[in-house]
Amino acid sequence: MSYARILGTGSHLPERVLTNAELERMVETSDAWIRERTGIRERRIAAPGETTCDLAEPAARRALEAAGTAPEEVDLVVVATTTPDQVFPSTACLLQARLGLAGCPAFDVQAVCTGFIYALAVAERFVRDGASRRALVVGAETLSRIVDWSDRSTCVLFGDGAGAVVLGPDEETGILSTHLHADGRHEPCLTVPCGISRDQERLRREGPAIRMQGREVFKMAVRSLEALVDEALEANGLGRGDVDWLVPHQANHRIIEATARKLGLPMERVVLTVAEHGNTSAASIPLALDQAVRDGRIRRGELLLMEAFGAGFTWGACLARY
Ligand code: ACO
Repeated sequence: MSYARILGTGSHLPERVLTNAELERMVETSDAWIRERTGIRERRIAAPGETTCDLAEPAARRALEAAGTAPEEVDLVVVATTTPDQVFPSTACLLQARLGLAGCPAFDVQAVCTGFIYALAVAERFVRDGASRRALVVGAETLSRIVDWSDRSTCVLFGDGAGAVVLGPDEETGILSTHLHADGRHEPCLTVPCGISRDQERLRREGPAIRMQGREVFKMAVRSLEALVDEALEANGLGRGDVDWLVPHQANHRIIEATARKLGLPMERVVLTVAEHGNTSAASIPLALDQAVRDGRIRRGELLLMEAFGAGFTWGACLARY
């Protein structure tokens, strides 16, 4: 059996840093509260006019370079995003054109914070069954565009960025399994309750904005991710001690710690970027992965557990040998 293996990683962040101290001047909050409850110190914010595709392109080019893949070799483009440049074409098609590609399939996947895991799961199947030899999988977001900057319970959490991987076939090892879940009954807990085909009036009046019942999301995230750890390990006949690195979605350091405890992993084996990036939704896992690959922490042959939980609710995991 052939596997889909991660051949290279890349990422890109906008230049502008928004610190907790700046947020203190915008809403009634404090650096101490944000750090203690979330672990976030700062986040990056896209410049006016800087789009999701603008962040995705350099991330994709870096991943291609790391994989030793020329853009014209790419035969599949999947972009996970909740904040596309426009309603259509998809951000994947916009990215495909910027990379000078034409003809191969390109499409977006929307599963909010779990988007990258969903995109990886889809692309992995293309590679494994021989339909793709070089798949570009990107998570990219400009979440700052849908943040209500007057709502202290959400505006301190989110940031912008992009990460990417290139997948290719490998006879020996690679992605071992992916596990995807959703439960749409929880829509009110975490939602942007206006859009194209509903609430046109509201869209014009106030624009889209994230609304969240933080405590509910927190509880469901911890519970679902703990069950997901068991599911991913059991599916591969692996135990808690077998995972080398946890590369989690970066929403909140307390959620991440709970998952690490469940895995029996010390925090030194957890890739943490939440302090500098905040929650970049679909971009957070490939951003973290790229950081740990480039600084030499993650090495070839090591076993990674990537996992995420987000609006929908959606949640998912990918167990991969790097
Ligand atoms: N600064 C200061 N005080 C605040 C802030 C803030 N930025 N935000 C809320 N508070 C206040 C609340 O008003 C509340 O005050 P009250 O007790 O007087 O009513 C108090 O702090 C406690 O609020 P809680 O919501 O209970 O605080 P909690 O400890 O649950 O932390 C948080 C809130 C950080 C949002 C947490 O619930 C959380 O992380 N939830 C997960 C949400 C998340 O990560 N969502 C992202 C998308 S989904 C995902 O990626 C997993």
